[in-house]
Parts: sequence; C-alpha cells; structure tokens
Amino acid sequence: MRVGVLVSGRGSNLQALINAYNEGKIKGEIALVISDNPQAYAIERCKRHGIEYAVVERREFKSKLEFERRMVELLKEKGVELVVLAGFMRVLSGEFLKAFPMRVINIHPSLIPAFQGLHAQRQALEYGAKLTGCTVHFVSEELDNGPVIVQACVPVLPQDTEESLSQRILEFEHKILPQAVKWISEGRVEVEGRKVVVKGAIY
Ligand code: GRF
Repeated sequence: MRVGVLVSGRGSNLQALINAYNEGKIKGEIALVISDNPQAYAIERCKRHGIEYAVVERREFKSKLEFERRMVELLKEKGVELVVLAGFMRVLSGEFLKAFPMRVINIHPSLIPAFQGLHAQRQALEYGAKLTGCTVHFVSEELDNGPVIVQACVPVLPQDTEESLSQRILEFEHKILPQAVKWISEGRVEVEGRKVVVKGAIY
C-alpha cells in the first residue's frame, strides 16, 4: 500500500514508520510526506532516508479548503491510499476526509475518549489519572475521536513530569503506529460502525 504521512514537527513517529518499512515489517512504501511547517525536523528525516516530501503551508492559501485541496492533489498524484497523521497539528475538514474515506488515521497520546485535544499528557497528569496511553484511530470529523484501531496503556508514575510521561507514552506510539499501518496495508482491518475488527490479530 502506498502511504502518505502528514507531519508538523519532530517526526519521531514518522521515523518509527520509516524504520518499520526499512526492516521489511510493512509491505508497500511511504510515497510522500507532507509538512505544513518548513522548519519541521521531520523534513531532515525525509532527506536522510531519500523519502519524497513536500512543504504545504497554510499561509500560502486563501482558504483552508484550497490548502487541503493542494494536499489531496499531491497525495493523489503519488497514488496514496492511506494517509497517516503523525504529529500533524491541524484539524482536517470533511472535504479532505471525503477524498480518503476511512483511510486517514491519527496517533493521539491518550486513551481516547479520555484527554482529547492538545496537551493530552498534561491533561492526564492534571486529572490525576493513574493510567494513560496512546491510540491509533481512524479520523472522523470529530477531533481525536474516530473508530479505535489499537491502543497501548502506560502508567502515570507519582514522580512524572509532562516530559517524562510524554516520553514513556512516545515509546508506545512508536510501536502501535507501525502496527496499525501494517494491519491496514495487509487488508486486515474492517470497520463496522465504531468498531474496528483486525482479522487474525493476536493480543
Ligand atoms: C506525538 O505525541 C503524537 O501523538 C502527537 O504529536 C506528537 C508528535 O510527535 N499527535 P512526533 O512529531 O511524531 O515526534
């Protein structure tokens, strides 16, 4: 399967995907990376690994619609079938999602439906949660809330800071995001309403 990855920053999740492809764990390839931020470190990762990338900045377009249309155009040109949001800091509209029906996934650093939106790790700390984690889900028009593909649990420790908790969660993000892309690429993921069924998955 040809995959497109949307990023805005550091790109450690992108790196986890690149590694999984390089190790032959996922069939197919990363056909294109799009960054909405020209300074994103994710771009360095693309250069280092010879992955095609494009910078598409929101401010270059009159409207969100035109900005998203440009991204769809580039992704379609590269034959992208699955779009992965890996630290992409913008909310996509229904127009974008219609171009890739049930083929846009996101990684979020909490166990959704808990702690949606920004600073999910800080929210978990402030709430006093003892467990949190990360989620890969299909993207729907509701922010950080679409059918769940895979989640991982992470304990919140008494001495945790936002940084230490984020780091512990991130290690699991780097496992479950490639896992979800692998399952989808193998055609093993079916969605029935809110429920995602992964054929032959052993938990
Ligand atoms: C991750 O914590 C991800 O869950 C969130 O944004 C962060 C991106 O990190 N959506 P990176 O750019 O993949 O390193």
